[in-house]
Amino acid sequence: MKSNNIILIGFMGVGKGTIARALVKKTDYFAIDTDDLIESLENKKIKKIFKESGESYFRDLEKKCALWCEKNITNTIISTGGGFYKQKNIKKIGRVIYLQSTFDTILQGLYNAPNSQKKLKKRPLLNNLVEARKIYEERVKEYEKVADIIINVEDWNQNKAVSNILKAI
Ligand code: S3P
Repeated sequence: MKSNNIILIGFMGVGKGTIARALVKKTDYFAIDTDDLIESLENKKIKKIFKESGESYFRDLEKKCALWCEKNITNTIISTGGGFYKQKNIKKIGRVIYLQSTFDTILQGLYNAPNSQKKLKKRPLLNNLVEARKIYEERVKEYEKVADIIINVEDWNQNKAVSNILKAI
């Protein structure tokens, strides 16, 4: 049976974790993040997992995480890594919300953040911005296809995003 989880998908740096935490404050949901789960499982940062074991090993961990979420998680807002939308069972985990913004706006937000160097460094797929833009362009339509609900967050207005999500769910 489909559970009542909410899954936030979208590109790196769009604000999935931040919006998940803001949603928790307005609801009785709990929140978890798939990258955090993977980091605790491996006791390593995502950057180190990519460096030592490669991207495909990381994707296997995402799959393991997706299967675990399907079996074990309810009443939770699940923020995800930018590539988690590919998990075949994602719709079985809960309702999928795509946080939509443009590549340039996302990058601008990352560069303007007070801890921007940290935010950029921890994301191996943002090392090369030409490649990152390509990944974004490849994924945009896929994110839309997987989504049950699309919320535009281009204006970085967190309160508006939260209230639009609450109206939609
Ligand atoms: C990835 C996004 C990252 C993290 C990993 C791969 C991706 O999460 O899962 O670096 O493929 O887009 P964020 O979306 O939180 O940056």
